[in-house]
Amino acid sequence: MDLKYKIDTGNIPQHVAIIMDGNGRWAKQQGEDRIFGHYEGVNSVREIVEACGELGVKYLTLYAFSTENWNRPKEEVDALMELLVSTISMETPNLNKKGVKLHAIGDITSLPQSCQNELQESINITANNTTVNLILALSYSSKWEIINAVKQIATQVQNGTIKTTDINANLIDNYLTTSNFPDPALMIRTSGEHRISNFLLWQLAYAEFYFTDTLWPDFRKNDFYKAILSYQNRERRFGKTSDQINNN
Ligand code: IPE
Ligand code: IPE
Ligand code: MG
Repeated sequence: MDLKYKIDTGNIPQHVAIIMDGNGRWAKQQGEDRIFGHYEGVNSVREIVEACGELGVKYLTLYAFSTENWNRPKEEVDALMELLVSTISMETPNLNKKGVKLHAIGDITSLPQSCQNELQESINITANNTTVNLILALSYSSKWEIINAVKQIATQVQNGTIKTTDINANLIDNYLTTSNFPDPALMIRTSGEHRISNFLLWQLAYAEFYFTDTLWPDFRKNDFYKAILSYQNRERRFGKTSDQINNN
């Protein structure tokens, strides 16, 4: 059943973050090599980006490669990097057509030069688009990001540019790689794992979490609608009582 018509268009999360997990297991189920799952996962990415455009989700962050993923076998890392380059170059015209603006967060300088070039080119080409902001987390980990922020803030204090008493949540936000984006309202993880694997630890402080057993290559528009519907059935209280929320 198409669940799209059930969605309340007045209550769409502004920012959705997704841990796209389960590509390897999906491939194994088909008797294929893990990388086959990564290839198929690209089709899910295309559909979910499109769904965001249709529903009015303004920001979509996709966890595509973690700092820890560098520890995978070299063949898999190499294949993922190649896939990244070919996907970005192939999909850029489509992103442009759909009004998608590309961003990247993470330790981008650690990626192979060809990836960095392709990424930068696509970021430049899509820079004036305004329908959806697609943020790729690449060689990203939240602890890496927080360590960087702390180092920068410490340097500023040492220089006398800011005082220790100036340090607050807003200031910390400004030193994170996500400083230009609102915090995610909804975080989805596929494949049945119930953990956040070093993803946006600070930014997810008040996000709604949605876990599904569906493997990423099987996660398509209707699965995304299901996640949005689950989000819409929750009461976001931010520490207040239910009565306070409902009386306002
Ligand atoms: C997620 O799928 C993609 C990346 C981490 C790059 P996995 O490759 O982690 O797939 P599983 O979890 O082994 O099934
Ligand atoms: C998290 O998935 C990273 C990405 C989806 C890119 P992993 O499959 O690497 O996470 P763990 O190792 O199972 O926690
Ligand atoms: Mg995994």
